[in-house]
Amino acid sequence: MSDYFTMKWLPEGKLRLLDQRALPAELVYVDYDSPAGVADAIRQMVVRGAPAIGVAAAYGLAIAARNSTAEYTQDLLEELQQAGAMLKAARPTAVNLFWAVDRVLNRVALLKSGAPGELRAAVLAEAQKMEQEDIETNKQIGLNGLSLVPQKAAFIHHCNTGALATVDYGTALGLIRTAHEHGREVFVYVDETRPRLQGARLTAWELKHLGIPHALIVDGASGYIMKNRGVDLVTVGCDRVAANGDTANKVGTYNLALVAKAHHVPFYIVGPTSTIDLDIPSGDFIEIEERGADEIIRIGKEMVAPEGTPVCNPAFDVTPAELITAIITERGVIYPPFTENIRKVMGV
Ligand code: MRU
Repeated sequence: MSDYFTMKWLPEGKLRLLDQRALPAELVYVDYDSPAGVADAIRQMVVRGAPAIGVAAAYGLAIAARNSTAEYTQDLLEELQQAGAMLKAARPTAVNLFWAVDRVLNRVALLKSGAPGELRAAVLAEAQKMEQEDIETNKQIGLNGLSLVPQKAAFIHHCNTGALATVDYGTALGLIRTAHEHGREVFVYVDETRPRLQGARLTAWELKHLGIPHALIVDGASGYIMKNRGVDLVTVGCDRVAANGDTANKVGTYNLALVAKAHHVPFYIVGPTSTIDLDIPSGDFIEIEERGADEIIRIGKEMVAPEGTPVCNPAFDVTPAELITAIITERGVIYPPFTENIRKVMGV
């Protein structure tokens, strides 16, 4: 376990979240006691990272169930549906959010002939199960990817995929952590990840805590670094993997994949199978979140562009499957042809 936590369920029925907007300057925790509050925390990126927002949303439903005064099961189910719709609307790209809400709602739908108290307990139990599973899944992902990491390994990593992006341990950063724990000589080039600087603020902070050697680079430096410094592999997380392997992740991932291809550096997507969306045939069907202009024209409170500068701010991009060497999941490493092999791993 890390000595900080992304989220914690409090016995009085609240969700405590680490406010990731304040990092690395301050370690601030905020308590949420309504599903609307949790949805807002997801929207404002108090909590972020695909697996973390999924589990936070599940706890948002646990709060909705607990706060409900419904005397009849049908009324409670309707309230949960409404809370679920609100939570899902918080951010559009990471499928884990929809997956987590649907998983809880499907679980309680099975109890529709039970008493409201039974449903309330089941919602919380399911959220807690997902919290626990997330950590186990991440550790398994790390072990599954280990054989792909050479003894001396220089990585480029984009965004933040560590303990902060999950309940704990992390996915792509979890693999780096596993490699480090298994005695690999690891060095990480950390993309700063404009505009919200998840790499600089969060990943560099986590690596420092873990004692893993690293250097922060600007996003545009990846080509130079690959050509001149030697990079053995690129590992990134994912927000949604389509049935053909096309993958949405933090904006800049696609550029990184192109640079990796040009330099013959293996490019790995690392994530849980809950990020795989078999309902969409390709990345063309993934909704890409557009965020506000302020994220680009300011760094912190500082203006870095003239007031009113027109901005285009997609928060994610889609890396085509042909640029991806493999997808590392808790169920194993998936290689091309992805359409066929993703289905095999998903058991369909
Ligand atoms: O906008 P964010 O910070 O939520 O974006 C996060 C990412 O893009 C991560 O790479 C992805 O969610 C995987 S986190 C394990």
